[in-house]
Amino acid sequence: MSDYFIGLMSGTSLDGADGVLVDFSTPAPRVVTSAAEPFPESFRAELLELNSPSHNELHRAALAANQLAALYARVVRTLLDQAAAPGRPAPRIRVIGAHGQTVRHQPWRTSPEAAGAGYTLQLNAPALLAELTGIDVVADFRSRDVAAGGQGAPLVPAFHQHVFGRPDRAVAVLNLGGMANLSLLPPAAGSASVVGFDCGPGNALMDAWCRQQTGRPFDAGGAWAASGQLIPGLLASLQADPYFALPPPKSTGRDLFSLAWLAEKLAPFATERPEDIQNTLAEFTVGACIAGINSYGKESEKLIVCGGGAFNQHLLQRLQTALPTLRVSTSDQHGLPALQVEAAAFAWLARQAVQRQPGNLPGVTGAAGPRVLGALYPA
Ligand SMILES: Nc1ncnc2c1ncn2[C@@H]1O[C@H](COP(=O)(O)OP(=O)(O)O)[C@@H](O)[C@H]1O
Ligand SMILES: [Mg+2]
Repeated sequence: MSDYFIGLMSGTSLDGADGVLVDFSTPAPRVVTSAAEPFPESFRAELLELNSPSHNELHRAALAANQLAALYARVVRTLLDQAAAPGRPAPRIRVIGAHGQTVRHQPWRTSPEAAGAGYTLQLNAPALLAELTGIDVVADFRSRDVAAGGQGAPLVPAFHQHVFGRPDRAVAVLNLGGMANLSLLPPAAGSASVVGFDCGPGNALMDAWCRQQTGRPFDAGGAWAASGQLIPGLLASLQADPYFALPPPKSTGRDLFSLAWLAEKLAPFATERPEDIQNTLAEFTVGACIAGINSYGKESEKLIVCGGGAFNQHLLQRLQTALPTLRVSTSDQHGLPALQVEAAAFAWLARQAVQRQPGNLPGVTGAAGPRVLGALYPA
């Protein structure tokens, strides 16, 4: 019997929403179809503004959540249309897993006594999405893990282990979204031995610099970065942030690696060539991944890259050069296209939720134990 779920993901890159319709009836999840909907420019700008304190933000956040739900509903419609065949209706979907749009991520406790004092906030309107689609929705995946003392992130390592883990060899998975997260999967891993954490910024800072200097939303293929040269002093300054010395569990976002953070770091280097700055920002992303693998996944034989950064040839080449003993490939070569991995992970997490199975790995997030993640909004 087929077992269809939809996963919807919109990450810190603020590029848009990715959706997949997945059949979980086979041992390896099968993506039936995928769809993406870019954020209109004005919506992207509004979400970016809502990432930091601003005027009347409760009202604006609620409206942005409704707009996101309408956009998510269009992705769902496209997925269902694509999955239908002449004379055959679209498959019946058990549940939609809708991640929402993170605008604040501050899971840390302010003091050891302040249990659950941190929080993570994803704008989302799951009731509206259930109303618009007529399908049950699971949302708010992260807050239960935070309530249990965890980071609430990353949540994808459990899914990475499910689809990319190997009994015979250690595998590293790098998700290059706006932020970057690493999953280090030992051979025959019990989930307790998986290491996973946000290693630092992924594309967000490179995107911001590219947009500011060239007007383009991202550096296609990394060609612009590849045309520049490293500025060692700038790289050292970027890498001096205390985040990089912290051991896992750890997670981050635009709260720390904001445009203001970047502007402060760039100020002393204002006379440098823009392409050299881009090259250095790319090296910053690569360096954090390499440091993570060297510290926690040295025995890995493969590095599987997913997320939109997998389209950045410059990043892939730099990773392969710096990690010569490891074979670098993209998730496409392992059966799951780069932009589908995170969306599929949230379809899987929604399935875990309705089966009342845990979605977090406490060894990754630092939560007190395994927890069922998310809340159900029946259609
Ligand atoms: N052709 C490309 N070349 C280089 N980078 C790309 C390309 N396509 C997408 N990207 C990068 O991937 C990002 C989107 O990745 P995604 O995995 O959706 O991140 P998020 O989960 O944060 O939304 C874009 O903002 C851009 O930086
Ligand atoms: Mg995206």
